[in-house]
Amino acid sequence: MTTQVTAGTVAGMTGPLGHGGTIGILGGGQLGRMSAMAAARLGYRCHVFAPDADSPGMQVAAAATVAPFEDAAALARFAAAVDVVTFEFENVPAGTLAILAPLAPCRPGVEVLRICQDRLLEKDFLARAGVPVAPWRAVHDEADLAGAIAAIGLPAVLKTTRLGYDGRGQAVLRRPEDAAPAFARLSPRPLILEAFVPFAAEISAIVARGTDGAVAVYDAVENQHRDHILDLSFAPARLSATTAAAARRHAAALAESLDLVGVLALELFVLPDGSLLGNEIAPRPHNSGHWTMDACAASQFEQHVRAVAGLPLASAERHHDAVMRNLVGPAGLELWPSLLKTQGIIPHWYGKAEARPGRKLGHANRLLPLGSLRALDDAAALQGL
Ligand SMILES: Nc1ncnc2c1ncn2[C@@H]1O[C@H](COP(=O)(O)OP(=O)(O)O)[C@@H](O)[C@H]1O
Ligand SMILES: [Mg+2]
Repeated sequence: MTTQVTAGTVAGMTGPLGHGGTIGILGGGQLGRMSAMAAARLGYRCHVFAPDADSPGMQVAAAATVAPFEDAAALARFAAAVDVVTFEFENVPAGTLAILAPLAPCRPGVEVLRICQDRLLEKDFLARAGVPVAPWRAVHDEADLAGAIAAIGLPAVLKTTRLGYDGRGQAVLRRPEDAAPAFARLSPRPLILEAFVPFAAEISAIVARGTDGAVAVYDAVENQHRDHILDLSFAPARLSATTAAAARRHAAALAESLDLVGVLALELFVLPDGSLLGNEIAPRPHNSGHWTMDACAASQFEQHVRAVAGLPLASAERHHDAVMRNLVGPAGLELWPSLLKTQGIIPHWYGKAEARPGRKLGHANRLLPLGSLRALDDAAALQGL
């Protein structure tokens, strides 16, 4: 059968994408790679658009466009070659979205990306969707910063409103004299000052939402960072049932308020009394959801593909407990041979050209019997990782 016969209803994507349909993925990183692998299993082709040749996503995709995100002609050809466009990162330039959106269905939609690209819009949105957030103020100049410090107090965290990741573009202000150098380093970009949250733990909850409005929410996980980069996720988070349920509820509420089609991760702080504060939203599969690849019947990547393709979502049920370790360069490269030898560890490698320090090269999931993680201390939970 030809592609045309099996591709189903694609014009405007009013129905599900048929076998052999093509999903366009903007971005060439590991999130796109793992989405493309999940898409292939469901019978779809992926076409990756990214500036770098031989990117992790392109290595597993049926087609690739190597071009800058500003290349209007290449974007138009890409849009014409795919049935639906999705994104593996949220910081898609506004100009790129303006070119793509009229030419192809974009999932998630442009408005979701606009909100999640800007910490001010995002914080406002979280609060309006009923997710409490720490006090914050917009900071455009030094007078704003002085006013914000007076209102919020110290310690506080000064962040760029856009393009921050892995702790980049932020500074913790502990004393009044930290303010001027931090402002000088981060400005002239628009900034936000947030109260420093004395959290007991950091967690995240991942939710998928389909074209029919159905949601599938994964168990919330506990995240530990090293050098501001995610190091470990413990699934499920070792939380009270009330806190865990609240995290899931918040994630589902956000997906609905955003009218999301796709997957989002909500990062939350857990306070010592078990209450939650929202930190940020990523409208895509998330590093803290990689455990779902091996511990759930359907991974976050499969759910993302299902949502984008207009298929029914799968269950987000967990059949094992899991611990995920990120393999970050160069130490992650050294760990790889021992991970391959250890039973019960499931290794994943992203095919990056270089093992530069701080780069995410892969991850490994350790599976544990369902319900057993809670009784383990960190050392026992991490055996073999
Ligand atoms: N207001 C805050 N209070 C305490 N810690 C914070 C605060 N904001 C961020 N952090 C710490 O910095 C990390 C990175 O910040 P985040 O806002 O998630 O930015 P990104 O993940 O985009 O780099 C968080 O995971 C948390 O450990
Ligand atoms: Mg974060």
